[in-house]
Amino acid sequence: MVDLTTRIGPLRFKNPITVASGTFGVKDEYADYVDYRKLGAVIAKTITLHPRKGNPMPRICETPAGMLNAIGLQNKGLRDFVEDKIPYFRKRKIPLIVNIAGESTKEFGILAKELDRYKKSIAALELNLSCPNIEAGGVRAIREGRLITKTIEAVRKETQLFIFAKLSPELGDVLETAKEAIRAGADGLSLINTIRGMAIHIESRKPRLAVGTGGLSGPAIRPIALRYVYEIKQALPRVSVIASGGITTWQDAVEFLIAGADLLAIGTANFVNPRATLDILEGLKEYCLKHHIKRIGEIRGSLVTHRRS
Ligand SMILES: Cc1cc2nc3c(=O)[nH]c(=O)nc-3n(C[C@H](O)[C@H](O)[C@H](O)COP(=O)(O)O)c2cc1C
Repeated sequence: MVDLTTRIGPLRFKNPITVASGTFGVKDEYADYVDYRKLGAVIAKTITLHPRKGNPMPRICETPAGMLNAIGLQNKGLRDFVEDKIPYFRKRKIPLIVNIAGESTKEFGILAKELDRYKKSIAALELNLSCPNIEAGGVRAIREGRLITKTIEAVRKETQLFIFAKLSPELGDVLETAKEAIRAGADGLSLINTIRGMAIHIESRKPRLAVGTGGLSGPAIRPIALRYVYEIKQALPRVSVIASGGITTWQDAVEFLIAGADLLAIGTANFVNPRATLDILEGLKEYCLKHHIKRIGEIRGSLVTHRRS
């Protein structure tokens, strides 16, 4: 038996496997494939204060070793989430991490305040500070307005929930942004969101995405995500990190654990294999058994560096 229990501050997860926001439906879409109770947690698709239609189609396309998406945070808004989604997860005792995005700092604060009323049913908040596909509240607005501190402070003021700040290289230097996020009151980090990219249809000469560019995800960004998780954990060893970025197999999951990740969010892989989360969980257990690892913590942050001569 391997003990996969993962503790993050006051939080306790039965294993480190979770799903990346926006890649696992919004409620029970994957329930035919995955018993959600086997996951460490579910991270919900970003919710905004008001419903959003998202961007015009086409808004996804395949790329070598990944995909581009420009969904634009389509969701039914806060009210639907508290009336329909929270009860679903609460009834089944599935740890729920709620991902939020505001169109302004003020909206982030309102979302945090409203959700704080349901804190018994929520494990943590994840702040989407790095969406590449929207204008107000998107990654560019946050970078150019230098809004990281203000946004996190607005949320911190309204909630006692554990806060993960979700970052990407699009915000600027990731280590500096991470330090700023922690100083402003975030408890943990989520690394990394998608990185902006583009694809062109050569017959029509139109961009493959209606809005021109979108966020690149999948194995194509895995080495970048791995590097950031490693470097941030080296610099901020006490800060917990949810890793996302192309985690597709159990071997990828082990790599991220060795780099120091606390939770592993499976994203684009769910579209290829809807059972990816459970396959990764099984592979992880077998790896631990084979290597006589009794507790998952024994692998975490265990990178062996090459000796220099
Ligand atoms: C179709 C799609 C929708 C996404 N929607 C969201 C979202 O609503 N909020 C968010 O924080 N991240 C969103 N993401 C980013 C993922 O949560 C994840 O951070 C990113 O895709 C990297 O992980 P992956 O390579 O395993 O997919 C989305 C990604 C994809 C592919």
